[in-house]
Amino acid sequence: MSTDTAKATDKNAKTVTFPKSKFSWLWENLSGMRVLFVVCLFGTVVYNVMQIVVPFFSGKLVDEFTKLGNGGGSGDYSVFYRLIGAMVGLTLLRVLIVYLDCMGYELCSQSALFKIRNYLYNKISRQDMKFYSTYRTGDLMTRVTGDLDAVRHNIAWVIRMIVESFVLFFSAAIYFVIMDPLLAFSILIISPLIFFIVVKFKTSVAPKHTLLREKLASMNTHAQENISGNRVVKAFAREDYEINKFDNANKDFMETNIDTQNTWLKFYPYIETIADLMPIILLTVGGIFIINGRITMGEYISFSMLIWAIANPMRQLGNIMNEFQRFNAASNKVMEIYYSEAEIVDDKDAIAHPDRFEGKVEFDHVSFKYEDGNLPVLYDISFTANPGETVAIIGETGCGKTSLIQMIPRFYEPTAGKVLIDGIDVSKYKLTDLRKNIGLATQDVLLYSDTIEGNIAYGVPHLRAEEIVKFARYSAADEFILKMPEGYDTIVGERGVGLSGGQKQRISLARALAIKPSILILDDTTSAVDMETEKHIQHSLRDLDFNCTKIIIAQRISTTKFADKILVLKDGRIIEEGTHEELVNAGGYYKDLVELQLGDSIEALREGGVL
Ligand code: GTP
Ligand code: MG
Repeated sequence: MSTDTAKATDKNAKTVTFPKSKFSWLWENLSGMRVLFVVCLFGTVVYNVMQIVVPFFSGKLVDEFTKLGNGGGSGDYSVFYRLIGAMVGLTLLRVLIVYLDCMGYELCSQSALFKIRNYLYNKISRQDMKFYSTYRTGDLMTRVTGDLDAVRHNIAWVIRMIVESFVLFFSAAIYFVIMDPLLAFSILIISPLIFFIVVKFKTSVAPKHTLLREKLASMNTHAQENISGNRVVKAFAREDYEINKFDNANKDFMETNIDTQNTWLKFYPYIETIADLMPIILLTVGGIFIINGRITMGEYISFSMLIWAIANPMRQLGNIMNEFQRFNAASNKVMEIYYSEAEIVDDKDAIAHPDRFEGKVEFDHVSFKYEDGNLPVLYDISFTANPGETVAIIGETGCGKTSLIQMIPRFYEPTAGKVLIDGIDVSKYKLTDLRKNIGLATQDVLLYSDTIEGNIAYGVPHLRAEEIVKFARYSAADEFILKMPEGYDTIVGERGVGLSGGQKQRISLARALAIKPSILILDDTTSAVDMETEKHIQHSLRDLDFNCTKIIIAQRISTTKFADKILVLKDGRIIEEGTHEELVNAGGYYKDLVELQLGDSIEALREGGVL
């Protein structure tokens, strides 16, 4: 339960070591509540000791009662009444302490839950791209919900039960030993057997909880992917298939759950038998001792009222161990995220650059390979985009265009070479300074469930309404927005449901422009808009009222045509570089592309005045 719990085994069977043990991690997150938590632990000790005191008084009461009944004693009933009063008083006080104690534990556990959840969310939000491609959304959701709840349950219930069981067992055992060591010995002699069985149970149930946790994450991932991919499911009429897939995951989870719970059933009969032996031993040995006159009837009653305080913690141990293993599996998952570190972070001597960049972008012999990929994606890429210039990147699908531009805002880092902005390696800038200078419209557009206005102003929350309209006009979105039921106040649903692909792209372009970036990166942003609209957008991009270097990935010649420089990418290498004119004259891949897209030979196009 100490530092060895700091080691966790994840699904790939590799051991993850955490900087802290589970309990010191919990302690850290109980900050602000530590005093209350200790008071609660103390309260648990107190109310359990009080449980032992009541049978003690009962024994005394029986002895007094017997004496009075036999006409013995002083005939003074005041001791009798005082004992009854003390018992009632103690019981009421104990109930009050239990009540306050439970509330205290709940408060502590909720506070820790709140703190850890916020910390995790913060941690997840600041992770890099590698993290997001490693963890599935459903798995992450399981960690911040179900797993965290197991952690809360550990604080509110498991720890309390551990303390309760130990206090009950040991105080009852001490009481037994003081009252009659021989009787105590004959009852307690069998208790180590139970500990032995519980340790065996722990070894058997621990891996099942880890497996159960994996099944839960897998089921949640199925559900999450199916719900967010609902349109694909419907388009392919694969509802039955998806329902079936989920049913299987659900069934798998249920069976693992049953198997985990059944593990206890294998051990339960032994524990129960041993626990049930205790009252029998008491009855036999205690009976003999009464006959011998070694103990009084009252003492025997105290013993029999207290035998549960020995037997119950034994029975409870299995349950506690089960819950503790659930906590163990869940906290490994939570702590993995809690202690995860993004690889792409501010360099320790990163330069603060609060001012606007000039906007010069240079790739200096950049090569790149994804960590989980086999082959490099980019080889020896070198080019320069001067401030205010437009560089277009064209090339067949999968040739590495998106990978290339992702290195400018440092979503990924080159495996060789450097990416420089204004002559400084991007890794030397503070990430926030770097990224706030870059306006990016990604290939896969994601709009938030917010108004159109809110989506456009995402990067600049207090943007004035007329500015929002201006950026919407730049991206040819103003017209269709005004036709929407509530104009700029129209809520666009999750992932912009209710908008066409081209409309979403235009809002995403307006969002990228709204931060007035010194470097604008557009990844196939106009692929879904018609030629006429695209022309309008290109026109506005040339006439922006702020200086901006543009790096535009495009498939259409109409987009690349006016660029200051065109890079043609093939299999991760720049195979052609130059202006539209130069590349057409060079007679290579670009020229073929022009002919293919415009449907005629260069000569014919020239003659016809198209070029
Ligand atoms: P289109 O957007 O289709 O025009 O392609 P692209 O030129 O933008 O290609 P991209 O840069 O996205 O991908 C280049 C290569 O990298 C492809 O072979 C992809 O399969 C691969 N790739 C892209 N993303 C990842 C990733 O996250 N991990 C790994 N291992 N490979 C990736
Ligand atoms: Mg791409």
